[in-house]
Amino acid sequence: MVERAAVVQLVYASRMSRKCGPRELENILRVSRRNNQAMGITGVLCYSPCGFLQCLEGPPEAVNELYRRIVRDDRNKDVTLISYGPANRRAFVRWSMACVRSDEADAALLEKRGVKGELDPYAVGPRQALGLLADIARERAAFLEAQNGDGA
Ligand SMILES: Cc1cc2nc3c(=O)[nH]c(=O)nc-3n(C[C@H](O)[C@H](O)[C@H](O)COP(=O)(O)O)c2cc1C
Repeated sequence: MVERAAVVQLVYASRMSRKCGPRELENILRVSRRNNQAMGITGVLCYSPCGFLQCLEGPPEAVNELYRRIVRDDRNKDVTLISYGPANRRAFVRWSMACVRSDEADAALLEKRGVKGELDPYAVGPRQALGLLADIARERAAFLEAQNGDGA
């Protein structure tokens, strides 16, 4: 019998379409945080001038359903799956959807993960993707905690 994973992690890259500006990004995050909490999904959305790199983690049905919606969403385009698989534990347990700008991430940290200069989500390999996002989110949490004691 094949055991179903309790939690899967999915990472994809996409580009912002012309329909998605900074205001729209705010909307996406507001809706995401509400929906994800209800669906048991956690994750991180990292954006760079080259596009989005997002990790969704949670029950397989919920992650699959959300990914289908994101693929159909015309605020992004060229949605490309980078990695998908079961996880022993969540990497982003504290966030219904963290949002980080790659240019706010520490350059040395990116370089350690093989990213030189601007982060191109399409150039990130499947092995690299999760570690990179987890590092960026961890650094962001430490920064926010130092500021106000809140990682949200
Ligand atoms: C880059 C990007 C990331 C998104 N991430 C999420 C997400 O994490 N959770 C979510 O519910 N919707 C996300 N969305 C929005 C979905 O595509 C979709 O519009 C939304 O889930 C529909 O919610 P509604 O049925 O409440 O209107 C994202 C959209 C884009 C363009």
